[in-house]
Amino acid sequence: MCGIVGYVGSRNAAPIIVEGLRKLEYRGYDSAGVAIHDGKGIEIVRTLGKLARLSDALEKRPLTGSTGIGHTRWATHGRPSEANAHPHAAGPVAVVHNGIIENHVAVRQELEAQGVKFLSDTDTEIVAHLIHREIERGVKPLFKAVQGALKHVVGAYAIAVTSREEPDVIVAARNGSPLVVGLGEGEMLCGSDIPALLSHTRQMVFLEDGDVVELRASGIKVETVSGEAATRKAKQIDWSPVQAERGGYKHFMRKEIHEQPDVVEATLRGRIDLAEGDVYGAEMGVSAEVAREVRRVYFIACGTSHHAAIAGRYWMEQLAKVPCVVELASEVRYREPLFYPDDLVVAVSQSGETADTLAALKAAKAGGAKVLAVANVLDSAIPRAADGALYTHAGPEIGVASTKCFTTQLAALLLLAVYMGRRRGTLPQDRSQKVLQSLVEVPNHMREVLGDADYVHAIAKRLTHAKDVLFLGRGLGYPIALEGALKLKEISYAHAEGYAAGEMKHGPIALIDEQLPVIAVCPRDAQYDKMLSNVQEVRAREGQVIAIATKGDEEMLEIAQHVVWIPKMADEVLPLITVLPLQLISYFVANLKGNDVDQPRNLAKTVTVE
Ligand code: F6R
Repeated sequence: MCGIVGYVGSRNAAPIIVEGLRKLEYRGYDSAGVAIHDGKGIEIVRTLGKLARLSDALEKRPLTGSTGIGHTRWATHGRPSEANAHPHAAGPVAVVHNGIIENHVAVRQELEAQGVKFLSDTDTEIVAHLIHREIERGVKPLFKAVQGALKHVVGAYAIAVTSREEPDVIVAARNGSPLVVGLGEGEMLCGSDIPALLSHTRQMVFLEDGDVVELRASGIKVETVSGEAATRKAKQIDWSPVQAERGGYKHFMRKEIHEQPDVVEATLRGRIDLAEGDVYGAEMGVSAEVAREVRRVYFIACGTSHHAAIAGRYWMEQLAKVPCVVELASEVRYREPLFYPDDLVVAVSQSGETADTLAALKAAKAGGAKVLAVANVLDSAIPRAADGALYTHAGPEIGVASTKCFTTQLAALLLLAVYMGRRRGTLPQDRSQKVLQSLVEVPNHMREVLGDADYVHAIAKRLTHAKDVLFLGRGLGYPIALEGALKLKEISYAHAEGYAAGEMKHGPIALIDEQLPVIAVCPRDAQYDKMLSNVQEVRAREGQVIAIATKGDEEMLEIAQHVVWIPKMADEVLPLITVLPLQLISYFVANLKGNDVDQPRNLAKTVTVE
């Protein structure tokens, strides 16, 4: 997730902006840049890599001026490179942007037809050209030109803009991506997050979606994109700087759990055509021909990504009616796996760098299979080695235990299954419309479930001393049981097992006694009755049941000791919701035990070795 900082005042802007960007480093980035107005014109410096490289470049080529904007880029459209780094310039303006412009392909084509030459692969550059077009049409001042340009933009954005023609002004806007304005003494700032501004002022204005703001050293003016005046009251921030970086949360993991509604929304944005009940092919990484003709889908992944792949298999079989295999990448690479040219191998990896997944992918390619990467990090090794990539838009995940990357992988894999089902003619339009409609509703349901975190905390307290915990699920609840167990063991260090509930009688039932907490994923779905029987079997042996169940399920309320409610939803999207209480349980247990939640012992975020 990109970081934005803007400054207008009387001090030298560049060091203030770079220091602000440093406070946003936790958001993750691959390149950085600044645009400074020196009173005559705008100078831009951009570098690939860490901020130290930007600082070195600014030492060699110092920029002086008291108005400027800066950016750290987390690549979403266009690989990490200096040319794709922000700011992007067009005519007199320079722009930085955080978010995703949904209609960038259409606008780019329109602008190219009008003679505009693009210098980058980013969606952002269209914003710079749209503002320039407004200025060329005589729209003044910059504030009005930005409002005019944004009327053509669909998507999520926070932007900051500076213009050669208005040295004392920055214009910024937000719609769906965060942007805060800091009110200083004779200076104004804007930034993606509070920490970037906190050393200059504690008076902050939180913009609302659709706001456009003009910043001058003397004050700010806010209007909506359509020109209505807006009053936004300043708030006094009393966070400590460290707290501020985590958005007020104690740990990145908790922050990332609560980011899930937004990042799932970002992963769906611009990819769904509800009216047609279809998924746009442009970003799926698989051509319509391949989608139609493959005879087998072969998922490869490790850890949490492997659990997402298991759900992917269920969807692919149900909706696209194509035979599927799911394999641990570490096993595939040392077997003698059989791949065929009409296989579609889907390598799922949030980091895009996992050594085992990369090696298995190479084996698949050697066997002639088509390979699709589902990854979160643009241009990382796995998407580079694949034939195509489907990106999740979770932004950087800092907590080692994966949470938001998992749910965005689920969202992406469900989109892929719908896309394939429609191309293969196996998924009727009315069913795909229902599935996609339910998927679009997921972020709001997630907000509702995460709103009950205090209740989950109370349950987690009872698990703090548990040595073993059994997680059970069926169907799409099975990968969630596996994921719940993995989360708990990796950060709370308790032993946990995830099991397909149908397997209980084949072994784990022997473990059950009054000491063993059993977490049962049992929403009202097609497998409900079977899950209910499993829960009864656990209770008959004095096991302690915590159920994840659908609101209004009186039967479950009677049997289980504790019930965490989830809203009633379509079966297909349930895993995106049922996993949330399990993430929260593992977080709370680990925190109550005083563990290092964000960096659990012995674990690394990116496993680039075997
Ligand atoms: C667990 C976790 C790991 C990763 C696994 C694969 O919370 O994050 O199990 O899922 O190491 O990593 P990626 O997805 O980067 O290939």
